[in-house]
Amino acid sequence: MTGAVTIERLRDAATAAMQRAHAPYSTFRVGAALETREGAIYSGCNVENASAPAGICAERGAVAAAVAGGSHHFARIVIVTEAASPTPPCGICRQVLGEFSPELEIISCTVAGVESRWPLAVLLPHPFTAASLGRA
Ligand code: THU
Repeated sequence: MTGAVTIERLRDAATAAMQRAHAPYSTFRVGAALETREGAIYSGCNVENASAPAGICAERGAVAAAVAGGSHHFARIVIVTEAASPTPPCGICRQVLGEFSPELEIISCTVAGVESRWPLAVLLPHPFTAASLGRA
């Protein structure tokens, strides 16, 4: 944790991760940076595979890094792509993000600086949760 987390720092972290993406099949590079409740930043990029279903999205890569680092509560995620307009996270990533932070703010940016924001609850209004399993 090094100082206040700003949107610029998150965007820089997500952009740096995007530049390290392994996306030779789709050529669609994605970077993501999660801000934890404790003020740390964890980033991820999409990592594709010759066996397509073995690939993983940037957002889930960031979640895995955060959990491995001991963080389970996230305030914001910034996603960066080279698309013409900001892209929302895919359905699987919404579900994974919701496991930890149903109140998450999602900020998606293009490298050209176009930005969209959504609360996760708007993108995933009826998540399957621990309560759905009858264990909460
Ligand atoms: N991708 C992500 O990394 N995040 C998303 O939310 C949507 C899609 C990746 C998966 C694949 O490597 C590429 O973008 C094209 O689908």
